[in-house]
Amino acid sequence: MLEKPVSPVTIPSLQGKKESGEKIVALTAYDFPTARIIDEAGVDIILVGDSLGMVVLGYETTIPVTMDEMIHHTKAVSRAVRRALVIGDMPYFSFHLGVEETIANASRFLKEAGAKAVKIEGASKKRLKLVEAMVEAEIPVLGHVGLTPQSLYRFGQYKVRGANREEAKGIVADALNLESAGVFGVILECIPRDLARTITSRLRVPTIGIGAGPHCDGQILVFHDLVGYSNGYQPKFVKKYADLQAVIGQAVRTYAEEVRQGVFPDETHSYHRTRKKGK
Ligand code: KIV
Repeated sequence: MLEKPVSPVTIPSLQGKKESGEKIVALTAYDFPTARIIDEAGVDIILVGDSLGMVVLGYETTIPVTMDEMIHHTKAVSRAVRRALVIGDMPYFSFHLGVEETIANASRFLKEAGAKAVKIEGASKKRLKLVEAMVEAEIPVLGHVGLTPQSLYRFGQYKVRGANREEAKGIVADALNLESAGVFGVILECIPRDLARTITSRLRVPTIGIGAGPHCDGQILVFHDLVGYSNGYQPKFVKKYADLQAVIGQAVRTYAEEVRQGVFPDETHSYHRTRKKGK
């Protein structure tokens, strides 16, 4: 049977959504089957986030995640996706040594892994120069401000950013500077909802919120949090739409019981020898 043609989500189409007021739906994914399911469910953006390290690889933070791990998982996601825009996340220390190294790493997401864009955390002066250089090298870039998990050791903990006036002013400036440097959108993570509303109204490019309230142009969540498939701490902004941990645990317990009792495999799950004619 022929597959129905799909029109892929593009960067101009995301910009169109901001202009028309249609919300952008984004989620993370790290593997083929999940990416296929969420793409077919109509998500607009699939981010292969460096949250990979914490939700899939068992690291305590995102800091140890490597470029090779990111490329490996982005390839799997890209192979599955037909419609959504796949974005690869630049992991810690993939863009800290200079412009050349940054472009070499960012371009791997496009050339090797099938992503259409990259995301980078932060908006320091040096970071803005990197964004400009990537955009100049035809690599579309999504910015990320507010809580930036790769800065964990500088800030000491994961917590809401921009709660005081000084920090809020800084985050507005970060978002505006990223826009001037050429990003096609900005993730706003863990900031007060009114601050996200101000930024969203001041930017021409779309904002995608996570823990930033309802006024952003779009929303993103970590897939494993959304479906209840993560062991770690759940921030206040996570809404759990399913409890996969319970479903999987129950399925495995039932399987174990059936194997131990000789109930599985039964007749319908066993093969039979075919008999030769005349025997
Ligand atoms: O790594 C990630 O998944 C992210 C999102 C939470 C925005 O950066």
